[in-house]
Amino acid sequence: MSDTILVTGGAGFLGSHLCDRLIEHGRDVLCVDNLFTGSKDNIQHLLGCGRFEFMRHDVTFPLYVEVKQIYNLACPASPVHYQHDPVQTTKTSVHGAINMLGLAKRLRARILQASTSEVYGDPSVHPQTEDYWGHVNPIGIRSCYDEGKRCAETLFFDYYRQHRLQIKVLRIFNTYGPRMHPNDGRVVSNFIVQALHGEEITVFGDGQQSRSFCYVDDLVQAMILMMDCGAEITGPINVGNPVEFTMLELAETVLLKVGGRSRIRFMPLPSDDPRQRQPDITKARSLLGWAPTVSLEDGLEPTIAYFRKLLAA
Ligand SMILES: NC(=O)c1ccc[n+]([C@@H]2O[C@H](COP(=O)([O-])OP(=O)(O)OC[C@H]3O[C@@H](n4cnc5c(N)ncnc54)[C@H](O)[C@@H]3O)[C@@H](O)[C@H]2O)c1
Repeated sequence: MSDTILVTGGAGFLGSHLCDRLIEHGRDVLCVDNLFTGSKDNIQHLLGCGRFEFMRHDVTFPLYVEVKQIYNLACPASPVHYQHDPVQTTKTSVHGAINMLGLAKRLRARILQASTSEVYGDPSVHPQTEDYWGHVNPIGIRSCYDEGKRCAETLFFDYYRQHRLQIKVLRIFNTYGPRMHPNDGRVVSNFIVQALHGEEITVFGDGQQSRSFCYVDDLVQAMILMMDCGAEITGPINVGNPVEFTMLELAETVLLKVGGRSRIRFMPLPSDDPRQRQPDITKARSLLGWAPTVSLEDGLEPTIAYFRKLLAA
């Protein structure tokens, strides 16, 4: 069997960093992406590498390739993008999972799902542990993403129970770093781009809602550890940085690092926006031996540098 590793959504933010790391580790990588939110710019530097191959393909359609492992990341991840075509978002999560699980079943390949903290919805327990079932609105504007990802998890565990597939489910919390989309409305990129443009920094609500932010290198490390650990470890496992910041603290830190004269402007809170989000990473620590190592201050440096270069181009 081919030793190739398939990364769906590999031209996106997380996917492209994962491809980088796998190539660094000497692996052969097949990157599959429909370029909805991803970009060839993110993988341009890999295109000349003999061990890297790019295939433009939509995961809502079946895929017939020979691979050893599958990282399933294909799915728009920011509200701006996943709400643009919500039906397609659900299809990408659900049909995409069915197609990738079907492929894994045929090949007896190990498969990892990039799930999300959004499966917890607007949580009523804090911090969130993996046994918390969530508090999700099934008919709201975020539901295409949240429920799509929940259904994908269901499919993964049914394939595991019914077909003895080797599955790995990671629940990823807010992650940031270079190659985030500049206009996707995610808070870190938003604040940085606004500060670099010298515009007002828009903070929703009173800015006291909190989030935790994980640097992309830490996250990619967790993905590879999860994929390569013992088959008995299926997850779901939370991965993210448990250090919590309020939106106001983040805005102030970004302002300090970028410099300039931007001011903070408060805006009404969007519908279904969770007040608090913080991972309990006890399982990741004990089962994977993983914990984030990059502080927000340190991770913001390369991220700001990336956006500075992008906006100057
Ligand atoms: N970045 C985060 O903070 C975060 C948090 C939780 C979960 N995740 C999950 O991680 C994965 C990657 O997220 P990201 O932040 O890199 O987002 P991203 O939008 O940069 O990457 C997603 C990639 O999937 C591709 N894609 C979308 N629909 C597709 C389809 N139908 N067929 C093939 N490719 C398709 C996009 O073009 C893009 O390259 C997603 O599944 C997301 O839900 C990310």
